[in-house]
Amino acid sequence: MKETKRITVIGAGNIGAALIGGMLQAGVTDAEHLTATVRSGERAAELSRRFGIRVSAGGNCEHVAAADVVILAVKPSTLPKVLMEIRDVLREDQILISLAAAVPIELIEKLARKQMPIFRAMPNIPVIVNEGATAISVNSAGTEEQRAFVQRIFTAVGHACFVEEEQMHAVTALSGSGPAYVYMMIEALIEGGLKMGLSREIATRLTEQTVLGAAKLVRETGLHPAILKDQVITPGGTTISAIHELEKHGLRSMLISAIETASNHSRDRMQSLFGRFDEE
Ligand SMILES: NC(=O)c1ccc[n+]([C@@H]2O[C@H](COP(=O)([O-])OP(=O)(O)OC[C@H]3O[C@@H](n4cnc5c(N)ncnc54)[C@H](OP(=O)(O)O)[C@@H]3O)[C@@H](O)[C@H]2O)c1
Repeated sequence: MKETKRITVIGAGNIGAALIGGMLQAGVTDAEHLTATVRSGERAAELSRRFGIRVSAGGNCEHVAAADVVILAVKPSTLPKVLMEIRDVLREDQILISLAAAVPIELIEKLARKQMPIFRAMPNIPVIVNEGATAISVNSAGTEEQRAFVQRIFTAVGHACFVEEEQMHAVTALSGSGPAYVYMMIEALIEGGLKMGLSREIATRLTEQTVLGAAKLVRETGLHPAILKDQVITPGGTTISAIHELEKHGLRSMLISAIETASNHSRDRMQSLFGRFDEE
């Protein structure tokens, strides 16, 4: 059954447009109940053509006033300005969802000046191909039914789960930034293939399918990755000689440290941002 909730996406850039496409494809809502805003008229016309929905350049207040669910997909630096612009038309019976990285719910509550359900979602870039990983937090005003609806929105573009807001730093470091780490590994594997004489085309296709297939096996078998790794190893064989090399260079330790560093960086960044707005 299709939802009749009216949804507006304020700032339909990369992530916002992916959500629009995913929601329409998954039937979370239909084109009649979905609108969006951007900054440029050209982008508005392009999105309107692509999705068959109403998209405006500006006019945020009008779109928010007519919506049940407001998705804020603008950049974190633009979020305070947009919240101050729309707060007079925000209503406590609406659901507000922010995608802005590093912007805590407490700050959104302060800027919105409303006792309303506020969700903070941290998606990642593969939402563009409906394979995103999104973690969601919510304030105390969010009901079970609203949580289920918001999870449905993000499930339309991949996997979605709820976490405590405090864990958003770890989420940012792991799945938010994670595609960049995986791209580095993919790039290096391709170059390993090139070094050993494979064509770029063949090295690229074999690498992408290997990463995709390995991830799928982790998901579909539910087995610990160490067990899956062991299944590829034969005593005295090729794989164990490569694994020994990776262990010598500390691959696993490097990745664990990278997540720790990125998580701490996210916490520091949020503290400096939150402090700045606290003083205003
Ligand atoms: N990209 C990621 O991997 C990622 C991951 C997790 C979270 N996020 C979060 O997702 C949000 C969106 O990121 P993105 O990469 O999709 O950014 P983006 O592509 O730059 O999209 C931002 C959009 O906001 C529009 N915009 C700017 N000012 C506006 C205003 N005053 N009113 C209405 N629309 C306005 C822009 O319009 P124009 O197109 O006309 O300029 C643009 O379409 C950010 O808060 C980011 O922190 C992103």
